[in-house]
Amino acid sequence: MRHSKLGRIAVAAIATLSLATLTACGSDDPAPGSTGATSGGDKGGNIKVGFSQLGAESGWRTANTESIKANLTAENGFDLTFVDAQQKQENQIKALRDFIDQDVDIIAFSPVIETGWDEVLQDIKDAEIPLVLVDRTVDTTVEDPYVTWIGADFTQEGRTAGEWVKKNHPDAKIFELQGTMGSGAQTNRQEGFREVIGDNVIGEASGNFTRAEGKAAVEGALAAYPDMDLIFAHNDDMGLGAVEALEAAGKKPGVDVKIVTVDGVRDGLQALHDGKFNYVVECNPAFGNQLADLLRSVKAGETVPKETIVIDEAFDQTITQEFIDARTF
Ligand code: AHR
Repeated sequence: MRHSKLGRIAVAAIATLSLATLTACGSDDPAPGSTGATSGGDKGGNIKVGFSQLGAESGWRTANTESIKANLTAENGFDLTFVDAQQKQENQIKALRDFIDQDVDIIAFSPVIETGWDEVLQDIKDAEIPLVLVDRTVDTTVEDPYVTWIGADFTQEGRTAGEWVKKNHPDAKIFELQGTMGSGAQTNRQEGFREVIGDNVIGEASGNFTRAEGKAAVEGALAAYPDMDLIFAHNDDMGLGAVEALEAAGKKPGVDVKIVTVDGVRDGLQALHDGKFNYVVECNPAFGNQLADLLRSVKAGETVPKETIVIDEAFDQTITQEFIDARTF
């Protein structure tokens, strides 16, 4: 059985229900009743969590890391070992094996890409350590490899971006600036976007979710597709790289070439307010409080939903400076 993208729609109702019992989305405050809680686990102490973050490639990732660290604190009942994999799968696999050796209570990780995890997932399962997937998903042959997953609906984010483009620029010549190839965030956003947009994409390249690589990809696109007039960037950072490349080429971002992105971190929303981006679909990284509650439930042996979808919004150029200034990420 394959576990990628599994049944998100089917479980949406369950996920929504679980959200209702968790904290308000977008808030990083610890959930009512959760502050200061200690582990109810049978070892009597804090919950030992090994977390492998995939990297620090974007504003989104930095905000997500901050949210996780701010909530998985000793005061909140956790003993967190956090390891940054620098966007390398081999580093993540090593960290996961170290967590097995350390006999942590729970392993959590954000997989950089979807495939290539079979062996280590089987090892985690054999060690009987519950696994929690965060943000991204896996595609594996291992049966029932994780207890629960929390993250955004990437496919819907792509669709939302596509719907805005279809409505406002139906004849656009689109260049798609993709995230890390083979990641759930890339494959699912692309799938959702293309489902709505159809054949209007004239070119594509990966910017690996970073500003520098996004800029380089758009420099190449300007030469290869001189008539492109809209860029769909899979995240804000690559969109900001696109702004730099367009301005260096004497083009006005947001006017000569429209830019649609995903994330909605403060820098991205500022570019939207400044007229350099045209539309931003949110991907909310501030779900550390929800993750903390899930981990407590897992440790306590309670039934948890298989999936928890973090709710996203979308923004156009009517966004206000006050809203941006009040943004926590
Ligand atoms: O998986 C979430 C994506 O990863 C964010 O959209 C992107 O900014 C990050 O690198």
